[in-house]
Amino acid sequence: MQVSITVNGKRYERNIDPRMLLVHFLREELGLTGTNIGCDTSQCGACTVHLNGKGVKSCTCLAVQVDGMDITTIEGLAQNGALHPMQEAFWELHGLQCGYCTPGMIMASTAYLATNPSPSEEEIRGSLEGNFCRCTGYQNIVAAIKSAAEKMQQEPVGV
Ligand code: FES
Ligand code: FES
Repeated sequence: MQVSITVNGKRYERNIDPRMLLVHFLREELGLTGTNIGCDTSQCGACTVHLNGKGVKSCTCLAVQVDGMDITTIEGLAQNGALHPMQEAFWELHGLQCGYCTPGMIMASTAYLATNPSPSEEEIRGSLEGNFCRCTGYQNIVAAIKSAAEKMQQEPVGV
C-alpha cells in the first residue's frame, strides 16, 4: 500500500506491506533507529513517538493507520542543533544508565508535559506507567522530568 507520512517535518512516500508496524516503518524504511523495540507485548514503551503531538507506542499501530499524519521521533526533538530541555535534563541529572528506554521515556514525558505542564512528582510517576526502565530505579528519570518541566515553564519550547 502507498502511504505518505510526515516524520520530523519531512514527508515520506513509501509503498509498504499493510502489516508493517509503525516502529518497523521508522527503523527499517527510514533508518530512524532511535526508536527502540524493547518487548513484543506492547508493555515497555521504548518505542514511544509523538503521533500528531500525542505519545503513542509505535509498536501498537500499523504504518498504514498513520497515513497522512505527523510523527515526531527522538531524532526530531532537538531544534537547530540545540537539545530539547527534556534531553538536557536527562543528561544533566543522569536520568539513564544503559539508555535503551531513554528515547521512549523522553518522548512519553514531553507528550505528557504538553497535557500537564507543571506536574507533581506523583503525577510524573503515574505518567510513566507505560514506560519500563530496567536500570535506574526511576528516581533520576522523575527528577529530570521535574527539572525539564520547571525549565519549560520559564522558557516554553515548540515540541
Ligand atoms: S516495543 Fe513497543 S511497547 Fe515495547
Ligand atoms: S536506562 Fe537502561 S532500561 Fe532504562
